[in-house]
Amino acid sequence: MKKILTGIIALMGTLPYADAQNTATLQAGSPKQVISKHIYGHFAEHLGRLIYGGLYVGDTSKIANTAGVRNDVVAALKKLQIPNLRWPGGCFADTYHWKDGIGPRAQRPKIVNVWWGGVTEDNSFGTHDFLNLCELLGTEPYVSGNVGSGQVQELADWVQYTNFPGESPMSKLRRENGRDKPWNVKYWGVGNEAWGCGGNMRPEYYADIYRKYATFMADWTNTGNMFRIASGANSNDYNWTEVLMKNVPKSLIEGIALHHYSVIDWNKKGPSTAFNEQQYFTTMQRALAMDTLIAKHAAIMDKYDPEKKIALVVDEWGGWYEVEPGSNPGFLYQQNTMRDAMLAGATLNIFHNHSDRVRMANIAQVVNVLQAVILTQGDKMLLTPTYHVMEMYKVHQDAKWLPLTIKTADYKVGNETLPALSVSASKDSLGRTHISLTNIHATQAQDISIDLQGAQFKNVSGRILASAKLQDYNSFEQPNKIQPAAFKGATIKGNTLNVKMPPFSVVVLQLN
Ligand code: AHR
Repeated sequence: MKKILTGIIALMGTLPYADAQNTATLQAGSPKQVISKHIYGHFAEHLGRLIYGGLYVGDTSKIANTAGVRNDVVAALKKLQIPNLRWPGGCFADTYHWKDGIGPRAQRPKIVNVWWGGVTEDNSFGTHDFLNLCELLGTEPYVSGNVGSGQVQELADWVQYTNFPGESPMSKLRRENGRDKPWNVKYWGVGNEAWGCGGNMRPEYYADIYRKYATFMADWTNTGNMFRIASGANSNDYNWTEVLMKNVPKSLIEGIALHHYSVIDWNKKGPSTAFNEQQYFTTMQRALAMDTLIAKHAAIMDKYDPEKKIALVVDEWGGWYEVEPGSNPGFLYQQNTMRDAMLAGATLNIFHNHSDRVRMANIAQVVNVLQAVILTQGDKMLLTPTYHVMEMYKVHQDAKWLPLTIKTADYKVGNETLPALSVSASKDSLGRTHISLTNIHATQAQDISIDLQGAQFKNVSGRILASAKLQDYNSFEQPNKIQPAAFKGATIKGNTLNVKMPPFSVVVLQLN
């Protein structure tokens, strides 16, 4: 009898849909679609303590630095393998005149940062500092041009200054400022939030303006292979995408942006750490809405661009809460908890699963602002839960997407429900399969049984990010409270992968 029971239990382990709350099917055969590494981009705006204090401390600082840029932050970002960095804004970009930030520092004019705290900046971090930083990080610069308060000539000059190898007025100026070789900046934003802080324009008007800028940034055939990104929609403003797609010739555009923040209510954002379960649930509702937003914007793009030449670039996303008590309200400094880890894990899975159209994205923002991966305080630095998720997920960068269809249990609060689990999978260039899973359920562990559809794997290993409380975060007193650990909750039996995840946790598995 005992033998028969053991046999039945062993057989159950090989069945795809044993008793798990969640079931999924992995299609591991001949993948084609690539998850662009550029989905893992970051954003560095002149805002609060991001540039000044967070990235740049100046070369006379006691904090260890290379040409004024913090060594600790550079090392942490290198480990993250960030593929691109967007700069100088955001709203700031449409007030920024790049010629103010070149040449001898003592001669650079001081400016007022009108959007973010009204503080005076001395322009000590400018074009050379940013592009040299990108070289140090091994990351592609993504420069946002000033359309709102700038001129077409000003942006065309910036392109020539950064990219022209021969003799020209701008390359001469670059050389006078100490840089011979061009940096070859590929990614250029043509304004930011043109519907709001970038000029409060109507989409029809912006489409015309965009055409003009895009024309003079490149030449007839865009021989420089420049990637021009139009200022895109705010969340569900589908009309914005429609008007741009209809009115901008494909020869003038390589990407169109989308901004979506997970904010509970713009007038009542709630605290970053002392939130309750309802606030957590609403944040996750806003985050998971990204899936529908992308699907709908992509469907509009498909009408005009069925070959999917133009990328959807989600160049601002993340959680937005009230600032930390006592900090400058204009500086957008917030802490980062396990809620943010859930938000990042679920959002990156959404991007992977839409990687045919979403080929670039930028979390807002990299250091000390909004959903930052790094926080600094004087000479101290800490890595947030969001950092750890992005580090665990980096195995998907430039890997081939594997369809993974899931039937998931509900996470219910009051009368509303969300899917408890979010998943995605890919195969890297070494033939390793990675599956990332995020269990957003605040109180319940989740079992998932994944049918491997005949794919042969010898073993599974993994890492997990979890903590005792959803509100837990890394502080300067306890910077390593939350960090990834080895995960032992996954087993392969026959044709089935079984995983058991604790509540509010992120797991990345490797199958060989
Ligand atoms: O990321 C902060 C701000 O949010 C950006 O400057 C702007 O583009 C958006 O509204």
